[in-house]
Amino acid sequence: MNIRCAALDDYRVCAEIHLSARARMAYLPPDLHSAEETREWMRDVVFRSERVWVAEDADRVVGYASADGEFLNHLYVLPEHQGRGIGTALLAVVMEHSRDGVKLWTFEPNEAAIRFYVRHGFRTLRRTDGRTNEEKVPDRLMVWRPAPSPAAPTAAQGRTTLGEGRGPDD
Ligand SMILES: CC(C)(COP(=O)(O)OP(=O)(O)OC[C@H]1O[C@@H](n2cnc3c(N)ncnc32)[C@H](O)[C@@H]1OP(=O)(O)O)[C@@H](O)C(=O)NCCC(=O)NCCS
Repeated sequence: MNIRCAALDDYRVCAEIHLSARARMAYLPPDLHSAEETREWMRDVVFRSERVWVAEDADRVVGYASADGEFLNHLYVLPEHQGRGIGTALLAVVMEHSRDGVKLWTFEPNEAAIRFYVRHGFRTLRRTDGRTNEEKVPDRLMVWRPAPSPAAPTAAQGRTTLGEGRGPDD
């Protein structure tokens, strides 16, 4: 398996992977977007404004991940290639390129994805009833923060300010 940055014309295969993975997510409203709309969105929105990586298996693209700032917006692996470490490899590349951490939204009924992210060190920041997402399905915001570097000053060595280190995540 090989992970690489997506080339412009990979948008088609990424749209197909997106469509076939989402077709298995029975809790999503069907036909929210047509296949053609999904291809155009992949080309004009995802590939224009996000960083995209693809996973290849025997020269065939079988998964993709896209990130915008610290948000992992999409991580999809073809159903018949899931459970073989491809999602883990894509997530590792996203984590490598997001030094301050990674956030993502995932649907509450997507238990396999939640388990996958928890296994990779993500924790839940908050849950919603789905009112504000397009699909109207309850979801949750999750975050992963890298372990502090051993070279960082400790409280005893460095200046401390009350409340320092606490952010909107806490
Ligand atoms: C969630 C998703 C991205 C994970 O990708 P994946 O390629 O299946 O992930 P991995 O194979 O790395 O890991 C999945 C499981 O397989 C196991 N696994 C990892 N490497 C493996 C290997 N070489 N052989 C067998 N099993 C393996 C892992 O232990 C993991 O188990 P878990 O689900 O209990 O945590 C993928 O299942 C997917 O595309 N799902 C549909 C779309 C989706 O839900 N995307 C997330 C939206 S937020």
